[in-house]
Amino acid sequence: MPEIPMIQLSEQYRALRVELDETVRRVFEQGAFILGAEVAVFESEFAAYCESAYAVGVASGTEALQLALMACGVGENDEVITSAHTAVATVAAIEACGARPRLVDVTLERYTLNPALLTEALSQRTRAIVPVHLYGCPADLTPILEFAKTQGLFVIEDCSQAHGATYAGRKVGSFGELAAFSFYPTKNLGAFGDGGAVTTKDPSLAEKLKALRQYGWKEHYVSSLKGLNSRLDELQAALLRVKLRYLDAWNQRRRELANLYLELLAGTELTLPIQPADATHVFHQFVIRHPQRDALRAFLKAWGIHTLIHYPVPIHLQPAYADLGYARGSLPNAERAANEVLSLPLYPELTEEQVRFVCAGIREFAKG
Ligand SMILES: Cc1ncc(COP(=O)(O)O)c(C=O)c1O
Repeated sequence: MPEIPMIQLSEQYRALRVELDETVRRVFEQGAFILGAEVAVFESEFAAYCESAYAVGVASGTEALQLALMACGVGENDEVITSAHTAVATVAAIEACGARPRLVDVTLERYTLNPALLTEALSQRTRAIVPVHLYGCPADLTPILEFAKTQGLFVIEDCSQAHGATYAGRKVGSFGELAAFSFYPTKNLGAFGDGGAVTTKDPSLAEKLKALRQYGWKEHYVSSLKGLNSRLDELQAALLRVKLRYLDAWNQRRRELANLYLELLAGTELTLPIQPADATHVFHQFVIRHPQRDALRAFLKAWGIHTLIHYPVPIHLQPAYADLGYARGSLPNAERAANEVLSLPLYPELTEEQVRFVCAGIREFAKG
């Protein structure tokens, strides 16, 4: 069996080559490259897909979060609650707008923010909560939204790993006041470079975001707000429009392959991902846990099976975030996840035969 990579983006390109090449040619011939018709149409198509009212295209998922926080007026002296087991980007965005991240632990079932810990994380300065739908699994939103409502906090969903996932029958990205998406190439909906979007149902927040992404301009050359340069390119928007049409089929294929993994790995010593009854998981990653994770990873590598660790160091133990002041042992589930999680290959182009081979490798490891 040839090597099994963690992702194979060139295969996805080959499958859509005619449409994508034609799109690149169209954009080049149109001759508009920044904030033109392609971005505007993608924004309305993506908002509709997310069951939201507005989408604002921006330059990355990190800046989508930063701009969403800025649109809520979050800044210096404010605190924003998020989970300790997430991409560093979530926390980098909170710090980029001047606020202080307040980290809470995750549950080991969903790997998302544990709502039972919100009360102790609350302070006079808390302004917002950023639940992260990690690995494609929606966070337990109902208690988070209720808590936020009682305390008068904004909820900004981090949907960077969960395009198309649903919670209580509705798409993620339609629950919080705002939601941030990344179109980093490996995401379930990925661009051919960096990209991101913010969704919202609130027309005034959408208008504010449009100004904030371009120097705070409401009219050209007049900055009514202090903003950034964070625009989605026409080319990326046009290519994302093509790929958006395939997102549901790709997510469905991810779920089928995940179910095959679950079937073939049942009864092993692995802790397998759950699919909460109130949600549709879109398996951005298929993440297992194993106490001898590093040995398992090395064993699979020798079989030509590539894996990744999302993420090996929780936020509070990252050298750059030592100043947040969390001791080792203070967020035990995030620390345990960092020590035990392993992401197996899962992408729509993966074959069932490849999944069977990965599972055979894992069963061979278990024999010791
Ligand atoms: C959970 C999460 N939040 C935020 C981001 C940031 O997205 P980007 O890389 O597009 O800035 C990512 C992706 O890297 C992510 O996985």
